[in-house]
Amino acid sequence: MKKADVILGLQWGDEGKGKVVDVLTPRYEVVARFQGGPNAGHTLEFGGEKYILRSIPSGIFQGGKTNIIGNGVVLDAILFRAEAEELAKSGHDLTKQLCISKKAHLILPTHRMLDAAYEAAKGSAKIGTTGKGIGPTYTDKISRNGMRVGDLLSPDFKTIYAKAKARHENILRSLNYTYDISALEHQWFEAVEYLKRFRIIDSEYFVNDCLNAGRSILAEGAQGTLLDVDFGSYPFVTSSNTVCAGVCTGLGIAPNRIGEVYGIFKAYCTRVGSGPFPTELFDETGAELRRIGHEFGAVTGRERRCGWLDLVALKYSIMINGVTQLIMMKSDVMNDFDTIRIATAYEIDGQRTTEFPYTVIDGLKPVYTDFEGWKCDLRDCRSYDEFPEAFKRYVDFIEQETGVPVKIISVGPDRDETIER
Ligand code: GDP
Ligand code: IMO
Ligand code: MG
Repeated sequence: MKKADVILGLQWGDEGKGKVVDVLTPRYEVVARFQGGPNAGHTLEFGGEKYILRSIPSGIFQGGKTNIIGNGVVLDAILFRAEAEELAKSGHDLTKQLCISKKAHLILPTHRMLDAAYEAAKGSAKIGTTGKGIGPTYTDKISRNGMRVGDLLSPDFKTIYAKAKARHENILRSLNYTYDISALEHQWFEAVEYLKRFRIIDSEYFVNDCLNAGRSILAEGAQGTLLDVDFGSYPFVTSSNTVCAGVCTGLGIAPNRIGEVYGIFKAYCTRVGSGPFPTELFDETGAELRRIGHEFGAVTGRERRCGWLDLVALKYSIMINGVTQLIMMKSDVMNDFDTIRIATAYEIDGQRTTEFPYTVIDGLKPVYTDFEGWKCDLRDCRSYDEFPEAFKRYVDFIEQETGVPVKIISVGPDRDETIER
C-alpha cells in the first residue's frame, strides 16, 4: 500500500522546511501543504535566486509536480494572489501545477483586523502573532462559522461573506478597535475571483486516488511542533495542528497511510514571537547565532530569539510525530564556535527532568553537555566522510540520544548545500 511521507518542523518553526521540501521534491509526484497559512515563510535558494513562499507548497520549482493546498490550510486570497503573480513574473505559471482544496478556509479582511485587535487587547501578554488573521480564521472554522474556498462557487457567496463580516464587526466594536478595510475588501473580492483560475478540488479524493494509483506524495508542514495548538507552549502557539496528526485531518490521509516522517531541526534553536524558550541566550553567543544565521523572520522581518539545541524539546517532538528520519539544518552557522552546547535535561526547583513541562516556569535551568567546536567551514564538505571528527561527534550524540538517524545535513541555504548519508 502506497503511503504518504511527511516533512515537518520539530522546533518553533523556521527550521528550513522550504529548502528541504525543494530538495526532496524530485522524489515525489505530489507535494501538499496540510495546515497553516501565510503565517509561514519558507525560503528556497537555487541558481543564485531566492524565493519566499507563504501559502504555496515548496514543490513548485521542481517542474511537472502537482502541488496541493489542502483542506487544513487557511488561505488569504490577497496574499496568495500576490505570491502567485510574483512567481508568474519569474516564469512559474502555477495554474497548471497547483490545486486548492474546496474545504480550505478563507481568511477574510476582518480576520486580519481581529488578529490585531485580540493582540492589542492582550497587551503585554500578547502572542506576537504574524498578524495574518490565522487565529481568528481557525476560530471561525472550529465554531462552524467559517467560509471555505468551495463557497466561492456558491451563488450565496456574497451573503455568506456579509454575515461573517457583520459578526466580526460586532466583535471589533466591542474591543473598541478602529479600522478601515474598504481598500482591503475591494482587493479581496478581486483576489477571490483570481482564485477561480486554479483547480478547486476535493483534495481528499485527489490524494487518496493518487496513493491508490501508486503515486508518491510528500506532505509539507508549516510552523513547528512546539507551536502546535495542542502540544506546543500554549497559549504561545499557532492555531493549527502542526504535528504529524495534522496530515490526517489536513489532507484526509488515514493514519495507516503515513510513511516516512522527516523531522527537521536546526543545530541550535530559534523562536519568533512571545513564549517560553528554555535554552534562549541573551548574551553575545545568542547575538552571534542571529547575525551569522540571519535569524530574522522571512515574513515579518522580526528578530528571531536564538539559543542552544534543546534535546528535551527535540525528543518530545520526535515522540509526538513518530519521526523516522532527522534532518539537521544550519550547523554551518556555528563553524567558528569554540564550544557548542546541547541541553539534555532541565532542572526545576532542584529536580532534574527530561520531560517537556506543562509550563516552562521562571527559574527552569537547562542542563548542558558541552562539545568542542569543529572550527572549519562545513560548507566545503561535499560528503559525510569529509566532515571533521568534532562535528561527527555532535551528530552521533544527537542520534544516540534520540534513537533516530540524522539522514540529511544542510550546510548552507542553497539547494546544493545538502549532504545525505
Ligand atoms: P522554514 O520556514 O522552515 O522554511 O525556514 P525559513 O525559510 O523561515 O528559515 C530558514 C532560513 O535559513 C532561510 O533563510 C534559509 O535560506 C536558511 N537556511 C536553510 N538551511 C540552511 C543551512 O543549512 N545553513 C544556512 N546558513 N542557512 C540555511
Ligand atoms: P514557518 O512555516 C516561526 C509564530 C508567531 C507567533 C505564533 C502565532 O515559516 O516555520 P500566528 O500568526 O500563527 O497566529 O502566530 O506562531 N509563527 C511562526 N514562527 N515560523 C513560522 O512559520 C510561524 N508561523 C507562526 O511568531 O509566535
Ligand atoms: Mg519560516
